[in-house]
Amino acid sequence: MRSRSNFALGLAATGSLVAAAPCDLYKNGGTPCVAAHGTTRALYDAYTGPLYQVKRGSDGSTTDITPLSAGGVANAAAQDSFCKGTTCLISIIYDQSGRANHLYQAPKGAFSGPDVNGQDNLASAIGAPVTLNGKKAYGVFVSPGTGYRNDEVSGTATGNQPEGMYAVLDGTHYNDACCFDYGNAEVSNTDTGNGHMEAIYYGNNTVWGSGSGSGPWLMADLENGLFSGQGTKQNPADPSIYNRFFTGMVKGEPNQWALRGGNAASGSLSTYYSGARPTVGGYNPMSLEGAIILGIGGDNSNGAQGTFYEGVMTSGYPSDSVEASVQANIVAAKYATTSLNTAPLTVGNKVSIKVTTPGYDTRYLAHSGATVNTQVVTSSSATALKQQSSWTVRTGLGNSDCYSFESVDTPGSFIRHYNFQLQLNSNDNTKAFKEDATFCSQTGLVTGNTIRSWSYPAKFIRHYNNVGYIASNGGVHDFDSATGFNNDVSFVVGTSFA
Ligand code: AHR
Ligand code: AHR
Ligand code: AHR
Repeated sequence: MRSRSNFALGLAATGSLVAAAPCDLYKNGGTPCVAAHGTTRALYDAYTGPLYQVKRGSDGSTTDITPLSAGGVANAAAQDSFCKGTTCLISIIYDQSGRANHLYQAPKGAFSGPDVNGQDNLASAIGAPVTLNGKKAYGVFVSPGTGYRNDEVSGTATGNQPEGMYAVLDGTHYNDACCFDYGNAEVSNTDTGNGHMEAIYYGNNTVWGSGSGSGPWLMADLENGLFSGQGTKQNPADPSIYNRFFTGMVKGEPNQWALRGGNAASGSLSTYYSGARPTVGGYNPMSLEGAIILGIGGDNSNGAQGTFYEGVMTSGYPSDSVEASVQANIVAAKYATTSLNTAPLTVGNKVSIKVTTPGYDTRYLAHSGATVNTQVVTSSSATALKQQSSWTVRTGLGNSDCYSFESVDTPGSFIRHYNFQLQLNSNDNTKAFKEDATFCSQTGLVTGNTIRSWSYPAKFIRHYNNVGYIASNGGVHDFDSATGFNNDVSFVVGTSFA
């Protein structure tokens, strides 16, 4: 018999389940989080501690960003005020589980990253703005070369131990390089063999496995293989993903693993694979090592790109029903897009882009053949030069929220970066070209507009020795010099000469 008080209890329990944050749900299910990373929000109802640390370019100082309230959304306004007039990188992604499994700039592995000593780059703090229930927050926009890691971890699965993990990702930001991962990897930053990893992979790499259609796919990086099912190659039950916000899940236990996913903004999860471990050698039993990676492969392969908003790793194999309640909580967080531009441009306008650096401010962004440079232009310049320094603002070829700059004298050719130098090239319609030719516009660091690369949001259009680059505020290239950076990335976008 179902009494009234039982009914009330049932409602209360259901209510608290929906209200509970992901790590409260996993804990209630007996598979507690051992790592919880979210730059966008707290992943426990009671969590008030730091979510992430940002480091600013002006003086190298850092600050921690916390939730607005216990269990709440990140205080993005605190970041915006700390970073005003300069650049900011995400220097630490804190572990909210209490185990101090924080994610730091990834060190050199079998593969070197692009930063000093072979480290990977840190992510821009502003590359992935979103709203959660209408409140602004920032995700982790991983450009090629960017990665985070912790090799000295407590409580994550090792050997053949059971574990689960989920990540909320931008389903539209991916590539086919190895490997945009989040999860369990080697403590040595090198490939130590099959079964030494168990991580969420997202992208359209086809070197190992693949799914149906042309991707991108959720797969499991188990080391020396991205698995979309039991077989090492194509498993058609693993679908191509089209969601802007995507929840991906991987879990494993002795001779069993599963791949599950769904739209992070609505609805429930689907199971893409659940069954035995791969039959090729080394994956049964597993040989997990327990390090945590984000944005890279186990051996520090760092060519991939993607966006991470939040994710956790658990101890124990979570039940499908706990995962369903976690997905419901993610949906209730109401991830939504917001503008990538704080100083929008007008699509269709023909513009000039004037240098503001003292001593160079008679120059404009122009091109000489394929080279993008700055040149002195006046109202009495020759028509050819006026045209070389005139650009039509187009909808971004690689992201429609941002912009591309089409040459007025060479229609069909756009400013793009290549090896971080600007070039004028004709649109070859490849994904890589379109992304290289896409730029977002923010309030100028000194004045006017500062224009950053969409695909490398830590890099900004800069003139250096009167040549155009995308440059970071301090870094390995001469054109990344912090000296003069703010002026060199501040341009006045005005009426075109031609
Ligand atoms: O399993 C795919 C990749 O192979 C791993 O991430 C990397 O360590 C190795 O190169
Ligand atoms: O400019 C950086 C990268 O260099 C581009 O994204 C790529 O096309 C080239 O390899
Ligand atoms: O591009 C002209 C100047 O060259 C820049 O202002 C300076 O940073 C570099 O030396």
